[in-house]
Amino acid sequence: MIQGILIKNGRVIDPSQNMDCVTNVLIENGRITGFGMQPTGREREIDATGKIVAPGLIDLHTHLREPGFEESETIFTGTDAALNGGYTSICCVPNTNPPIDTQADVEFIQDQAARADHCNVYVIGCISKNREGKELSEMGYLARAGVIGFSDDGSDIENAELLRRAFEYVQMFNLPIMCHTEDSNLTNRGVMNEGIVATRLGLRGIPSLAEDVMTARAIMLAEYTHGKLHLMHISTSKGVQLIREAKKNGVNVTAEVTPHHLTLTEDLLESFDSNLKMAPPLRTRADVDACIEGLLDGTLDCVSTDHAPHSAEKKQREIDLAPFGIVGLETSLAVLNTELILKGRMTWPQLIEKMATNPAKIINLPDGKGTLQVGADADIVLIDPDLKWTVTESEMRSRSKNSPWLGQELTGRAVMVLVNGRIRMKR
Ligand code: DOR
Repeated sequence: MIQGILIKNGRVIDPSQNMDCVTNVLIENGRITGFGMQPTGREREIDATGKIVAPGLIDLHTHLREPGFEESETIFTGTDAALNGGYTSICCVPNTNPPIDTQADVEFIQDQAARADHCNVYVIGCISKNREGKELSEMGYLARAGVIGFSDDGSDIENAELLRRAFEYVQMFNLPIMCHTEDSNLTNRGVMNEGIVATRLGLRGIPSLAEDVMTARAIMLAEYTHGKLHLMHISTSKGVQLIREAKKNGVNVTAEVTPHHLTLTEDLLESFDSNLKMAPPLRTRADVDACIEGLLDGTLDCVSTDHAPHSAEKKQREIDLAPFGIVGLETSLAVLNTELILKGRMTWPQLIEKMATNPAKIINLPDGKGTLQVGADADIVLIDPDLKWTVTESEMRSRSKNSPWLGQELTGRAVMVLVNGRIRMKR
């Protein structure tokens, strides 16, 4: 009788226990039960020779679009895309319609995720009722329903007093306020990063200042209230500097950066491809380098996708009119391997730390997520680091295909994903 799963001969990378070696991993009853065991004939054996075996990736910033925008993504398709990209857990942001600001909304997502039965889904609740920035949401009820943080992502909260109260209130639940930092008055209907490229292309610019003033404000509010702040999609060198300074001063702040802000620059907009339009916008080479440096020195704690699906009807419009956002769950690992690891700027253990270990810590996931320690949930990804593949619409499981990497060849891909010890994706 089959009594477990033995993943054999993989390069097991688990930053949570400083592990990077070739060994066997034994899984029984949905949990990791040991390393280095030899087959007994009773286990299902998986040959992982030449593959990386790591804790399943965790995304703190996924737009699942359901309820309200099911033409772009559903909980079923979004979680399927997550598995395809190597994720075992994702956190969905609440800018849906209606926005996730009641217990019933949270429970709807939890139920749909359970029905989809793909990966773990954690919910981020709204800071303000209806995401209007006027009144705090029922944060206590949302916390009781199990949200892992609060955000009005998609836009910032203009009213600093409201944000201050949010920081104070959530301390009861030890949950982070997750800030999309952007002053919409400074953005002022901009389309891409403000600068020489925008001027040349005749496109309205978004100054980096629009992000930075609000990053500074969020840090100051967190410092003043002793609240817990997580900064979403940081994209500027100034932002990295502000966070570095804040951490030095003991502010309770963590921050994420997206794969696109680590690898793409504003000049690509010369193609007028709306799949290069996102918020915050692609920045300069200096910003990208600062983000990479920040990621490596620990200023930026993790990589989040900001997977933002938009249907072709909406996205394939003139760049001025197309919505902001790109999909990312299915390409993040390959993009970062191709652009950072293979170019010698980062190592696999560093990347796994930023995509699995640290995300679990930031949102305080229970022991057993983001780690391969004995006793942990068997949420595991097998990665073929050498696999070359081309990004095509037909292979994407997300309902939307708005990726800037379409048609490009990338290296490295998740080839198997186990969630709680069950194989949920196999290539
Ligand atoms: O590019 C983005 N798209 N950035 C955001 O903050 C929101 C997101 C969306 O909802 O499409």
